[in-house]
Amino acid sequence: MRAAILTSGGDAPGMNACIRAVVRGCLAKEIDIFGIRQGFEGMYTDNIYRMDVSSVADIIHRGGTVLRTARSDRFKTPDGLEEAAAFLEKYGIEALVVIGGDGSLNGAMELSKLSGVRVYGIPATIDNDLAYTEYSIGFDTAINTVVSAIGNIRDTSSALGRTTVIEVMGRGCGDIALYAGLAGGAETVIVPEVVPDIDEICENIRAGVARGKLHSIILKAEGTELSTQTLAEILQLKTGCETKTVILGYIQRGGSPTAKDRVLASRLGFRATELIEEKAESCALGVRGEALIEMPFEEALACEKHSPMEYLKICQTLL
Ligand code: F6P
Repeated sequence: MRAAILTSGGDAPGMNACIRAVVRGCLAKEIDIFGIRQGFEGMYTDNIYRMDVSSVADIIHRGGTVLRTARSDRFKTPDGLEEAAAFLEKYGIEALVVIGGDGSLNGAMELSKLSGVRVYGIPATIDNDLAYTEYSIGFDTAINTVVSAIGNIRDTSSALGRTTVIEVMGRGCGDIALYAGLAGGAETVIVPEVVPDIDEICENIRAGVARGKLHSIILKAEGTELSTQTLAEILQLKTGCETKTVILGYIQRGGSPTAKDRVLASRLGFRATELIEEKAESCALGVRGEALIEMPFEEALACEKHSPMEYLKICQTLL
């Protein structure tokens, strides 16, 4: 049997560990495994190669993706989808593993409907915005990166008695801000899903200053309506406390994956190879609690995301 693997969309730490698991899992089952480079884009440039045990040597600890990745506009068009299906047929690919986030798994679903290929979607995005799975590969590493950054920023904020607004990634999802905010002891967390009460934030900053607190850390998700700069200006104006901004940006997407991400990536990748061997129906893989789950794409991608908003209250109570 011939199977292929690709990574798509924004990269996430742990993608390499997952590629390794899929490749070595397939080889152990005597399934021929091909790597498609640069996500769905690689299908339009015949960017495909046969992988062996050594293709994935020394990568479990590396961020990024050895298969590279891309955001493909062409794949989103009806013609692009047809071309992708024809490409898989040309190479005799019977099963495809797609590792990526929301857009990539939607693409995987469309491809599974159009082609005769069985497609397995593995969630990998630092945003953790796929509702059907509790965690996606890369999220744990990203929040650990943010927690470490909060520590560094708190040192200098305390030294100078400043408020600092730290912007984190996550698109429309507040999970990075919520988890990292709680773990990092941020005084305030601002997420796209909840309108912030600016007066209350200012009151908390003033109360902190009054009791001798040397810093205030506001962790703000990128998807919120108010820009980070504007928020900082408002807070400085209203509290009289010098307020700085830090946009963490792409450092959140890089770096060596945590053990938790490597374990999740290896388990999901290995499970995908079992599904390939069983010739199971196309599906999205995920995790809930300690157990791995599989769901039809349509059902999985229609789930509604519920972030742990109670973390907001915990942060504000513990400040
Ligand atoms: O989806 C992951 C993510 O890092 C988001 O948090 C962010 O909004 C986006 O990708 C950035 O996309 P790009 O890599 O295209 O700049």
